[in-house]
Amino acid sequence: MSWTIERIEQVFLGYMEEHGHAIIEGHSVRSPTDDVLFTTAGMHPLVPYLHGDEAHPAGKRLTDVQRCVRTTDIDEVGDDTHLTVFEMLGNWSIGDYFKETSIPQSFGLLTGEFGIDPHSLYVTVFAGDDEVPADDEAPIIWERTFREAGVDPTGRINPLGADDNWWSNGPVGLCGPDTEIFVHVGDNEAPAFADIPEFVEIWNNVFMSYDRAEDGSLTVLDQRNVDTGMGLERLAMFLNDHTSVWETDELALLLSEVASALAVDQSSLDEDGIRSLRIVTDHLRAGLAIAAAGIYPSASRQGYVLRKLIRRAVRHAELLRGTDENLADVLIECTQRVSSVMGQRWPDVAPGEGGAAARETIEKETRKFSRTLRRGVDHLTQEAEQGTVFDGDLAFTLADTLGYPVELSAEEATRIGMSIVPGWEKRYLELREEQRARSRS
Ligand code: GLY
Repeated sequence: MSWTIERIEQVFLGYMEEHGHAIIEGHSVRSPTDDVLFTTAGMHPLVPYLHGDEAHPAGKRLTDVQRCVRTTDIDEVGDDTHLTVFEMLGNWSIGDYFKETSIPQSFGLLTGEFGIDPHSLYVTVFAGDDEVPADDEAPIIWERTFREAGVDPTGRINPLGADDNWWSNGPVGLCGPDTEIFVHVGDNEAPAFADIPEFVEIWNNVFMSYDRAEDGSLTVLDQRNVDTGMGLERLAMFLNDHTSVWETDELALLLSEVASALAVDQSSLDEDGIRSLRIVTDHLRAGLAIAAAGIYPSASRQGYVLRKLIRRAVRHAELLRGTDENLADVLIECTQRVSSVMGQRWPDVAPGEGGAAARETIEKETRKFSRTLRRGVDHLTQEAEQGTVFDGDLAFTLADTLGYPVELSAEEATRIGMSIVPGWEKRYLELREEQRARSRS
């Protein structure tokens, strides 16, 4: 039986529930705090409880599946592993159990429920630094855990420094040493552990017992917590022996639905085409999740990220289909298909009433931007036919008069073979600054 996303989620939550964890709802992708835009980790919404400021109403052992956004990853989307919205399986001890329970519990889930061969598991532990001594408990617990499973621990438990085995969700706040669990996926029978692609990191258990202040100082928390995070899509990729997250069941279905709505044949796409199809699919999926958090496209903060995602989706759909009067309608059909697939697990983006608001947000922006894109591309094509070069003045005119975003006009100009004047960006920025100064005066 294959490991579907839904099955993995159920097995994870069921196991944690059996081990005394209350299943809680994941938070929306809108950050629970003002310092960052989006929810970036499973622990992020739980900070007040992990900090010991409040008791969580569901108790001291919690588990959930958290949708996370890391905006730094958006430009990587289209490769085999990056997604704008990814999901994190997590379990927490809020001042309850610590390493003694957490390590065998994680090992039991991986080897028992998910059937991973314990001989393929390798771990890293915190080797200590100037501030915090080495974690000398985790290696002992790991050694015992491996031995009890009949596995020789020699070479499997590797101490690494703070760059690898100290986890924090930002420069200040909660943090601690962690132990990271890797699976060996290579052919080498007796590997020496190293940070090489033969070892895929699948889980980390953070022993969250410190708090870093603005001035960089570290204090020990009154309560000792455990915070674990395991990427759902990456786990699915590994459990099914895939080499790309796009081969896992839900994402593969999304791709084929979007390809069919776009009327493109996946098997005939070249590398750029595959990348564009993944971008359209990813960005509509992420766009729906972000819109479902009550965010609207705008010129700043979360709204800007949403706008950028929709614009890129429209742009890459156009690259796949070519010039098309019906582009907006096609994208709206794509959005509905993404809503149908993701709505099986994400009720706030589902077809019907549940996801209506999110879909409407995406649809409006798609229509608006498709018109802008059409005008921009037409204008640029005419300029190219007249032998005009692409320079800062042209980029500025397109952005200023037609709203055609500069990142897209430059990309399109390259694609249609216009000569690009070196240093055009500088001229564009000067013109933009002059215009801003005029509008301030
Ligand atoms: N457990 C920390 C994280 O990866 O989110």
